[in-house]
Amino acid sequence: TQSTVIAPSILSADFARLGEEVDNVIKAGADWVHFDVMDNHYVPNLTIGPMVCEALRKHGVSAPIDVHLMVEPVDRIVPDFAKAGATTISFHPEASAHVHRTIQLIKSHGCKAGLVLNPATPIDVLDWVLEDLDLVLLMSVNPGFGGQSFIPSALEKLRRVRERIDRSGREIRLEIDGGVKADNIGEIAAAGADTFVAGSAIFNAPDYADVIGRMKAAVDA
Ligand code: DX5
Ligand code: ZN
Repeated sequence: TQSTVIAPSILSADFARLGEEVDNVIKAGADWVHFDVMDNHYVPNLTIGPMVCEALRKHGVSAPIDVHLMVEPVDRIVPDFAKAGATTISFHPEASAHVHRTIQLIKSHGCKAGLVLNPATPIDVLDWVLEDLDLVLLMSVNPGFGGQSFIPSALEKLRRVRERIDRSGREIRLEIDGGVKADNIGEIAAAGADTFVAGSAIFNAPDYADVIGRMKAAVDA
């Protein structure tokens, strides 16, 4: 398994002070910035796009930016995010007419490619593309909002995807997104995740370093 990554979702940050919020979570020990893009079409809710990603880079953010696209169509926004400084770009197979093509498009723009599986999406969607991916992101809530509770069936799904990744022999990250807290991250890690998105658990905490520290300790326990 790869090193642990904690990726705070800025969906729960104070958008009026976004640069400062990102600086603060990175200073507090976060590894990546998770950047949720919602279009009020593929998912309810509307958030931020490439301009905000570029603004964070101009502000001086050097940490990897983990772009989670919840938009349809996917392809035409990919080059904009690559130009805006995205590190990883992940998308939902239901939102792309040609999943293999979208993966190649992301990689051809110099970004790492991830596929996101909703709670009810079967893992067979990985069958013919797993080897092309840098990351698999399992949703443990239905996408659209922060602050929802972790759906327990995601644990069994993590175990099954972990097995497939290990069998592939490739360095593919297994990321989990939704309802991750300091008190359940231990069992989520034990099920096979190595990359953890947490929005409300981090940004609603009074002390970012304290909560990120407790999360890392629980993963290593
Ligand atoms: C949901 C987003 C998540 C969300 C997680 O659609 O993809 O990244 O911000 O928020 P929490 O950690 O509060 O469940
Ligand atoms: Zn997300």
